[in-house]
Amino acid sequence: MAQLGKIAVTGASGLVGRRLVAVLRDRGYQVLRLVRRAPASDDEARWNPSEGTIDLEGLSGVTGVIHLAGDNVASGRWTEAKKAKIRDSRVHGTELLAGALAKLSSKPKVMVSASAIGYYGPRGDEELLETSPSGTGFLASVCREWEGATRAAEDAGVRVVHARIGVVFAKEGGALAKMKTPFMLGVGGRVGDGSQYMSWITLDDVVAALVFALEDETLEGPVNLVAPTPVTNAELTKSLGRVLKRPTVLPVPKFALRLGAGAQMADEMLIASTRVVPAVLKGRGFHWEHPTLEPALRSVL
Ligand SMILES: NC(=O)c1ccc[n+]([C@@H]2O[C@H](COP(=O)([O-])OP(=O)(O)OC[C@H]3O[C@@H](n4cnc5c(N)ncnc54)[C@H](OP(=O)(O)O)[C@@H]3O)[C@@H](O)[C@H]2O)c1
Repeated sequence: MAQLGKIAVTGASGLVGRRLVAVLRDRGYQVLRLVRRAPASDDEARWNPSEGTIDLEGLSGVTGVIHLAGDNVASGRWTEAKKAKIRDSRVHGTELLAGALAKLSSKPKVMVSASAIGYYGPRGDEELLETSPSGTGFLASVCREWEGATRAAEDAGVRVVHARIGVVFAKEGGALAKMKTPFMLGVGGRVGDGSQYMSWITLDDVVAALVFALEDETLEGPVNLVAPTPVTNAELTKSLGRVLKRPTVLPVPKFALRLGAGAQMADEMLIASTRVVPAVLKGRGFHWEHPTLEPALRSVL
């Protein structure tokens, strides 16, 4: 494993980014946060994906990049304006960053660029490996463009990893915090018939896998960042009920979610079934701190 020196991180203020920066520093890396406001210290440099500006000089000396930035997919309804922001923040931001890396006289060795399991689209109980084709829907199309936007870096000889991240379970926020509320109120239940799969990963493991992708010089291309045990909604519901010690008797009809969140967002995020296998990480001997659901939930909740 090579030591990579100075790592630039985008989206450093987010759920994953905050933890990642702390872990990188603990491992002895120097971290440069790319921020969208005026830099407040020497370890920050400015970029603005919506204006297409980036501090090239600030990036000099960077040996690796972990790119997480993008407008939050799960906050607010998917209006046309929101969907444009979800897409543009990722595609334009990634093009801007990859183009800048390609221009540096001393280029970083690696760019680990976030993507999502949304790449596969809703797929029932089909097992989805990194080699599986992309699916249908808005998120799948965003993920394809987002991954394609790293092209300039690849062409410049940078090793690029597309980290297809699953649903991140964390104490600090994200999907589990939202799912927990109805359970705490005693009205948690499976959604529809509960047969749809969710491919999850804990925050500890997603950050460890990002660092693994940074350090393992043989990794390139798509890598599924999920736990090795995706679960059905019925299994998740039972485990959540046990861990939170709450009843789970009331099933939630799919139409209620479609009404509450909007049909497209519900169909692609809340009701979608995506059963993703972390084939590449398994093949490289990656160690999951939380490989199975119930101990993971106990640790996170
Ligand atoms: N959490 C999950 O369950 C999950 C699942 C699959 C994929 N992912 C992907 O993994 C990445 C990190 O996830 P996360 O949960 O840490 O996300 P997050 O908490 O929403 O943070 C994303 C960060 O991106 C930056 N950002 C926000 N709006 C932006 C915009 N319009 N343009 C450019 N940058 C913007 C912000 O950082 P600054 O203010 O510091 O710039 C923000 O803190 C995201 O790209 C996300 O889509 C996450």
